[in-house]
Amino acid sequence: MSEKHATLTIEDNSYQLPIITGTDGDKAIDIRQLRNSTGFITLDSGYMNTGSCSSEITFLDGEKGILNYRGYEIDVLAENCSFVEVAYLLLMGELPTQAQLNDFRSLLSRFALIHEDMIHFFDHFPPNASPMAILSTMVNTLHNFYPEMTGDSGEELPEIAARLLSKIRTIAAFSYKKSVGHPLVYPRYDLSYCGNFLNMMFDKPVKPYVVHPQVVATLNKLLILHADHEQNCSTSTVRLVGSAGVNLYTSISAGISALWGPLHGGANQAVIEMLEAIHQDNNDFEKYIKKAKDPNDPFRLSGFGHRVYKTFDPRATIIKRACEQTLKALNVDDPLLEIAMQLEEIARSDDYFISRNLYPNVDFYSGIIYRAMGIPTNMFTVMFAMGRLPGWISHWMEMMGDTKDRRIGRPRQIYRGHKKRPFIPIHERV
Ligand code: SDX
Repeated sequence: MSEKHATLTIEDNSYQLPIITGTDGDKAIDIRQLRNSTGFITLDSGYMNTGSCSSEITFLDGEKGILNYRGYEIDVLAENCSFVEVAYLLLMGELPTQAQLNDFRSLLSRFALIHEDMIHFFDHFPPNASPMAILSTMVNTLHNFYPEMTGDSGEELPEIAARLLSKIRTIAAFSYKKSVGHPLVYPRYDLSYCGNFLNMMFDKPVKPYVVHPQVVATLNKLLILHADHEQNCSTSTVRLVGSAGVNLYTSISAGISALWGPLHGGANQAVIEMLEAIHQDNNDFEKYIKKAKDPNDPFRLSGFGHRVYKTFDPRATIIKRACEQTLKALNVDDPLLEIAMQLEEIARSDDYFISRNLYPNVDFYSGIIYRAMGIPTNMFTVMFAMGRLPGWISHWMEMMGDTKDRRIGRPRQIYRGHKKRPFIPIHERV
């Protein structure tokens, strides 16, 4: 971090604010002493220009479309690793040796079951309960069953993380089985992380599920691509809730709730609903493009645009390729893929989208792959949460381990309400 300074002049006073430069050249003006020295705060709705922390986990450059986990390029990881390997990288900071990976996998197998008492919870959610509401509730409840695993002591990290990574997968699959009235399928020691999930989702007593290698490979890739994305809305939520001293499970539960939003992780479900609406509307692309461009219409093209990427989201490029490969391998002909590709082509030649740097993001094509796998639309954001979990845990651990700079997150505001005014007793109010 360099010793350069920015000069701020307010009225007749000048202030020197330190400039911080990150590993890959990202720059910040350190305003941690701004209010103490000037009496001013900054105002930045949506934190578009505000850094909440420094981190060693993920680097992304929105102008160049760069995304690296712990210094490794996302496309290299997606092509060469399993999700469990990348989860270990995010959590521990280094790619695992074969022995470390085997140990981590053993922990995932050891923690794959949830307490039988938790299974009764599923019986008391309404039939059409959202899988995201169930997931957030069940993950928060894990703290009641494992209070000793508070998550704020580094020596248990692989165990703490493995417990959550494994149980979120089981909770997700169980919630699906309960929603369709099928008997639960329990995890198996002989299957991989992704193979186990698919088997728990789709195995049936009358028709055993055959784990398809291409589907497993694609699911690994999708979970890797969702595994972290620095200070996005849900990760920032996990950090903010955790900063109050809340345990890991409850902080993650808050992150699941934030991810649910259609402007965030809920977009992968909203994309499919949008593509189906266009399909039902005789593929009237122009109508939906017009709606998306109309400032008076709240409709936005789901899966398009990004707070940080002002060029192609590198994940969307990989997912689009995986989408075409997987549908071909599964011999699935989904009309929504053709609609998505045409929508992308139209939007990318339209000045409204070009001038605002609006490109497909991670959510634009992922839902089409999940559909081809047989995963129901209302579980798409659950898939996003499963993928993002190692990132959330890593950021929570990084924040809790920062004993020097860690403090409760508490932004300031500018007040624009009434000036002080006299109280009026109720019998005098009109
Ligand atoms: C994720 O932050 C992350 O890293 C998130 C994520 C992760 O990995 O964690 O990458 C995952 O959340 C991806 C984004 C998924 N959401 C969507 O696909 C929803 C549709 N996208 C938009 O709602 C929007 O693009 C956001 C929410 C993603 C970003 O919003 P911003 O940064 O606040 O930008 P904005 O809304 O101020 O838009 C700037 C302009 C506006 O037009 P003008 O006021 O300048 O005329 O672009 C327009 C917007 O109206 N615009 C869109 C649009 N997105 C932005 N217009 C039509 N369709 C869109 N999708």
